[in-house]
Amino acid sequence: MDVISLGPGFAAEIRGLGLADVAARDDAYGAVRAAFETHSVLLFRAQPITDELQIAYSARFGPLEIAKAASRGEGTPFSILTNIEPDGSLVPPGHKEALRARANQLWHTDSCFKDPPSLASVLSARTISPIGGETEFASMRCAWERLPVAMRTRLGSAYAWHNYAHSRSKIAPHLASERERASLPPVRWRMRWQNPANGRDSLYLASHTYAIDGVPDSEAQALIAELIDHTTGPGQTYLHHWEPGDVIMWDNRCILHRGRPWPGDKPRHMVRTTITATDADGLAEMRWVRPAA
Ligand code: OGA
Ligand code: MN
Repeated sequence: MDVISLGPGFAAEIRGLGLADVAARDDAYGAVRAAFETHSVLLFRAQPITDELQIAYSARFGPLEIAKAASRGEGTPFSILTNIEPDGSLVPPGHKEALRARANQLWHTDSCFKDPPSLASVLSARTISPIGGETEFASMRCAWERLPVAMRTRLGSAYAWHNYAHSRSKIAPHLASERERASLPPVRWRMRWQNPANGRDSLYLASHTYAIDGVPDSEAQALIAELIDHTTGPGQTYLHHWEPGDVIMWDNRCILHRGRPWPGDKPRHMVRTTITATDADGLAEMRWVRPAA
């Protein structure tokens, strides 16, 4: 296996091993798992992708999430990001899927608004727009390491609240339906996620994050915005231009990502599987503990 660095301090392409090797062989899984823990974003090119292969690969890393209520793929392990209707036509501007694509263009980590949250996402390109439609990544682990010590100390013991409806409402007030809101109540996580494989700390927040315990709302929202800017500033991101057969896996504990716009008259279809975090991934330490009296 060869590992070729792609981004500023994170992200790598894996050569010499593919999804099928990981699905079939413990040694291949071990090597790719180690690269995942180190590099946070892994690119595999020219994969013979099918739904079955994507599941077989993803399930190696942990339990798979079932797609949330009212999404394409609801009740299956596939989150479908698409502007293509079942009859092959493209959704019109203002359609729910078009608005969702815009919400996906806000910096986020997947499923921080769920309990349990996600370890990783695996995204395969099925139909690629000839222009735009890139996916951009930034490392909250590298961002943590660039923070002043006093801020790391403050955030290391802080808890933040996450809500799916919060990020959707930035695009349109009722984008998250009543059914989605009811199925996804707000959740609270520590703002620092420590990776148990290497001890490295990461910031943990996203466009879904709306409050910090003990901090007035306006101050918390300013701090969240400032931390996202700090993470995603010039020179800190990896922008991926998709090619047919590309599959990218990222670590939701420490990676922010966002989709980039593309013309509404071009089809784009992506399929994501999402792996749930477990205590072995450092989740237990993310849970709220009552402060000592
Ligand atoms: C996702 C996501 C962005 C994109 O799959 O979770 O945010 O570029 N995708 O499609
Ligand atoms: Mn996403």
